[in-house]
Amino acid sequence: MCGIVGYCGPKSVTPILLDGLKRLEYRGYDSAGIAVEGSDAIKVIKRTGKIQDLRAIVSVNLEGHCGIGHTRWATHGGVTDINAHPHLDASGKIAVVHNGIIENYTALKASLEKQGVHFVSETDSEVLPHLIAYYYQGDLEKAVRQALRQVKGTYGIAVIHLDEPGRIVGARYGSPLVIGVGDGEMLLASDVTAMIAHTKQVVYLEDGELVSLTKDTYTITDLNDQQVDKQVDEIQWDLEAIEKEGFACFMEKEIFEQPESIARTLSGRLDLEYATGKLGGLNMTSRELLAVKRIKIVAAGTSWHAGLVGAYLIETLARIPASAELSSELRYRNSVVEPDTIYFAVTQSGETADTLYAMRELKRKGARVLGICNVVGSTIARESDGGVYTHAGPEIAVASTKAFTSQLAVFYVFALLMARMRDMSVSAGQRFVKELQGIPEKVREVLKQRDHIQALAKKYYKARDFLFLGRGLEYPVALEGALKLKEISYIHAEGYSAGEIKHGPIALVNEETPSVFLVPRDYLREKVISNMKEIKARKGPIIALCTEGDAEVAAIADDIIPVPAVDELFYPFILIIPLQLFAYFCALELGRDVDQPRNLAKSVTVE
Ligand code: F6R
Repeated sequence: MCGIVGYCGPKSVTPILLDGLKRLEYRGYDSAGIAVEGSDAIKVIKRTGKIQDLRAIVSVNLEGHCGIGHTRWATHGGVTDINAHPHLDASGKIAVVHNGIIENYTALKASLEKQGVHFVSETDSEVLPHLIAYYYQGDLEKAVRQALRQVKGTYGIAVIHLDEPGRIVGARYGSPLVIGVGDGEMLLASDVTAMIAHTKQVVYLEDGELVSLTKDTYTITDLNDQQVDKQVDEIQWDLEAIEKEGFACFMEKEIFEQPESIARTLSGRLDLEYATGKLGGLNMTSRELLAVKRIKIVAAGTSWHAGLVGAYLIETLARIPASAELSSELRYRNSVVEPDTIYFAVTQSGETADTLYAMRELKRKGARVLGICNVVGSTIARESDGGVYTHAGPEIAVASTKAFTSQLAVFYVFALLMARMRDMSVSAGQRFVKELQGIPEKVREVLKQRDHIQALAKKYYKARDFLFLGRGLEYPVALEGALKLKEISYIHAEGYSAGEIKHGPIALVNEETPSVFLVPRDYLREKVISNMKEIKARKGPIIALCTEGDAEVAAIADDIIPVPAVDELFYPFILIIPLQLFAYFCALELGRDVDQPRNLAKSVTVE
């Protein structure tokens, strides 16, 4: 999400930090800052905007040989100069940059405030310098360790202290951090992109590890102060490749990031004890949520597909009528806005014009509109009456992948929250929470099928047309699979409800038109198997995505992509992954520009 860089050595630190941040900019791009150790003060410069904007205000007198920098992609707190990192403690001697989310920051902040600490920003990160200052007694490493023992959540941090010149302390939990071992100089960064210009020798920190480094030494310990010995790795990639973290393009990287991005979306939002979801950003009391009689979702493209899954799930679990509509339709329709209805505007970018104007029209009529947005501080996030950030991280590829699964995750949490206020039992809720918490791991398992899916893409990419077919919760997933294939490979693909094909689309089926069936072990499996037989009878080739060990489906299909078994409500997470990969590999076979397909833009701000 955000990027961190730090440097200790003989060279002038400021240009090194600025160049490192430039290379990390793809990770976050709403604000940036650096802190440099001077002889009598830590000098901090930070501002909203790109690295080039920061560069423009960095003055020549920012001389020093040790410092830290950060490029931010806002999570807690809006995009303002004050919320940009580094953050300082009250004395101004400690500077911290932080990636991740401090889940218990409200409690930590309250207890620090009780002791007279004054906070200046709205970020969760600012608790860190104050907490470290609280424990500091002449040993920065020790103070950081003590502070981190109090922290719940995820972090990658770099810290400097004016009284310990030439030292950086870093720590990682859930947010990457790498040491760059140079000749008489050391670097610390959230990824190797920022340091490859200086060294290819790196040491990757693991969760729970802390490093204290000077220009000549680095010591790694764990949170219990036990020393950890680690091997030095050599970076094998060139600069361009590692900007995509070794993946051929951003879309591939984002597909493979989904175990982490889904986990981030869920982080701090599930309560196993009470078996419910926690979505404070909705700005609604339990009483207000209980009074909700109808839920309507507006969105475009992939976000609409997530909304269709969300509506199905909410209605099934919470027994509240729910529907999802295209924002481009709703905005020009004279829709009826009823009291006790809440609307969700679902959007990755938060800037999609159709969704924005649909939201404004609804609000004009007095509706309460909540946002489900990925980009913090975007127009829809700002104008909505409350909502949920998906925290999927910057999505750079035009074709949306990880934003979709994070939107799903939000709907699963919301459906749980609403269901538990109505007729879902504690034990059913706890089963749901555990299943949801296990989804990132299941997604990781599906991703292991990369080579098999690539082989299928090589077999089928020459087809001119595809059908994507599913029922129930899998119908929107079929729509999304078809959208992915057409937008990046330019192969014509249609998504349909498998039950609908006999009403027309089956006329398209012949030996050259493959059908991709979504047929997991759920209550509609038998019905979908009948639909598969209808296609087979017309000699249509079939690729079936089915639950592992389903011999009956395997016997009908020409090819299968087996997926691990999950509770039947959770298959959308598991089935979309092979479809994203299939689209990606077909596009590669056809030599398409995967990240920037023709005619498309990442955020559609025009009608
Ligand atoms: C498809 C895709 C688009 C977007 C749509 C809505 O891969 O990216 O269909 O989903 O333009 O965009 P957001 O979610 O930013 O409102």
